Amino acid sequence: MRTPLIAGNWKMNGSAALVEEFGRVFTDARLPASLDVVILPPFPYLDAARHAFADTVLRLGAQTLNPLHSGARTGEVSGNMLKEFGVAYALVGHSERRQLYREDDEAVHDRLLAALSADITPILCVGETLEERDAGKTMEVVLRQVGYVMARLEPDQRARVIIAYEPVWAIGTGRTATPRQAQEVMAGIREYQAGFDRELAAGLRLLYGGSMNAGNAAELLAQPDIDGGLVGGASLKVDDFLAICQSAG
Ligand code: PGA
Repeated sequence: MRTPLIAGNWKMNGSAALVEEFGRVFTDARLPASLDVVILPPFPYLDAARHAFADTVLRLGAQTLNPLHSGARTGEVSGNMLKEFGVAYALVGHSERRQLYREDDEAVHDRLLAALSADITPILCVGETLEERDAGKTMEVVLRQVGYVMARLEPDQRARVIIAYEPVWAIGTGRTATPRQAQEVMAGIREYQAGFDRELAAGLRLLYGGSMNAGNAAELLAQPDIDGGLVGGASLKVDDFLAICQSAG
């Protein structure tokens, strides 16, 4: 069975006070017995979060990482640095990174390898724009993004990757993919993976992202190929995020 995973991507939001609040609330929170929960705060809060979350189920994730271990890369952070702060997961290929920082499939692949080599579980984000969906290119775009990375990995590396399907038109817009739309694409991703290895595909954890909230999470998470959520806006309100976690049981 695939363990559900709910990840809260704070993006460039949050504060030291929010870190403390999550630590407090999750210390006493009632959660499904089998559930992984991850918070991805901005880098400056990682150390405080590590301490505040110590007695909770919350694990830490990074929103990006540099492909190199160290070197002359002003402003960047490497996987082994993140590992020192207890980071267990890292996003690669988030659509904001692809669009605003021009990270292409090759850059995404390099970052994913860097995560694996630092023993950090990569969450590979993929998704089509509205234009691409309207042109009937959703599966083509999504499978190109998945395939570029997956086809270049060794089988044991593939087994360590989590994939998040985030339609770009649903991110931060309040417009969610219907459970059926999300399920259709996510079943397609799993089927693609089955082309490499059926067992691997059966164990692959797939997250849905894009305006997931306390009101729509249960229905999305009930779909057979949706194993969890990558939550942006609603992960900044502790009660909403907790409610999403509780609906993942
Ligand atoms: P959203 O963001 O939940 O605010 O749409 C999701 C994401 O970008 O990961």
